[in-house]
Amino acid sequence: KKQEKNEDDEFSESFLQTLEQQTNWDGSPMVKYRGFWYLKRFIRQELSSHKHFKARDSDIILSTLPKSGTTWLKALAYSIVNRDTIYRDIGQNPLLTCNPHTLVPFLFMFEENNPHEFDQPTDPRIFATHTPFEALADSIRQSACKIIYVCRNPLDQFVSIRHFLIDNKIEKDHAGPLGLDESFDMFCEGTHPVGPFWDHMTGYWNAQLENPRKVLFLKYEDMKEDIVFNVKKIADFLGCPFSSEEEERGMVEEISEMCSFQSLKNVDRNGYSFKGIFKNSTFFRKGEVGDWSNCLTPAMAERMKKLVEIKFQGSPGLT
Ligand code: A3P
Repeated sequence: KKQEKNEDDEFSESFLQTLEQQTNWDGSPMVKYRGFWYLKRFIRQELSSHKHFKARDSDIILSTLPKSGTTWLKALAYSIVNRDTIYRDIGQNPLLTCNPHTLVPFLFMFEENNPHEFDQPTDPRIFATHTPFEALADSIRQSACKIIYVCRNPLDQFVSIRHFLIDNKIEKDHAGPLGLDESFDMFCEGTHPVGPFWDHMTGYWNAQLENPRKVLFLKYEDMKEDIVFNVKKIADFLGCPFSSEEEERGMVEEISEMCSFQSLKNVDRNGYSFKGIFKNSTFFRKGEVGDWSNCLTPAMAERMKKLVEIKFQGSPGLT
């Protein structure tokens, strides 16, 4: 009991006060916990999910930095593992009527007192997270569950976050957001939600090198270049490869198309995700590679190039 109490103290306001604090460029308070920045408004749920979520061997965990392709990956994983049900009655395909965020919950939304919200009608269960590999619940790292990580060019990711937060006007009560230069400075210093991005990426990169059967590391840009190849790769990794009959029927192409930016963009456009916080349409902006060049200067890109070279010295696959 005593130990339980001490662990719960971890989530108390007085404990949070002991952590390093920062304000993100959009005005959101952040705290640094074990080397990573977290939005303060989600930290209790985040820590609680680390402690209480019990992974099953059959679970699938989708991990990303925010704005790196989470929505896309949710749609893909859902369609791949549930393809039998989806194709039995194509008109009933949930992806035709709901946003992928409705189908695949985030782990930080797991509530200890309401674990049944996490029961999914389908098996295996699929969850998403932005949590760094090192901070994942022990049960995720120790069980046989599978993890898929998608990383994205940090310049595009930064531009995408900036649009997302400004468009959603999350921190209405604060002064206006910082300008582009200052927010880019913060990003390059690693001071951003679930940053530093290089530590986030390196954590999953090393994990897949150590255990490629447990962690699959994908890149947004590769997926854009050849989604059919990557859909097959995901299915193989999850232990449900496409049969030659399925391939001949064009199922891989159909799933790729069903989860494409254009297809998902028009579904439930006016709905909201995450208890009414984010408008679904804001998850589909442009979906392009290299859009950063419309917002950032060549000098900023040069700065990022140097930063990435330094930070990924030990992981050449990431540069
Ligand atoms: P942009 O803002 O560059 O357009 P997340 O899902 O992690 O929140 O990431 C959102 C980013 O992924 C947005 O990038 C969004 O447009 C893009 N995106 C969403 N669905 C996509 C899809 N099916 N294919 C490619 N990109 C997609």
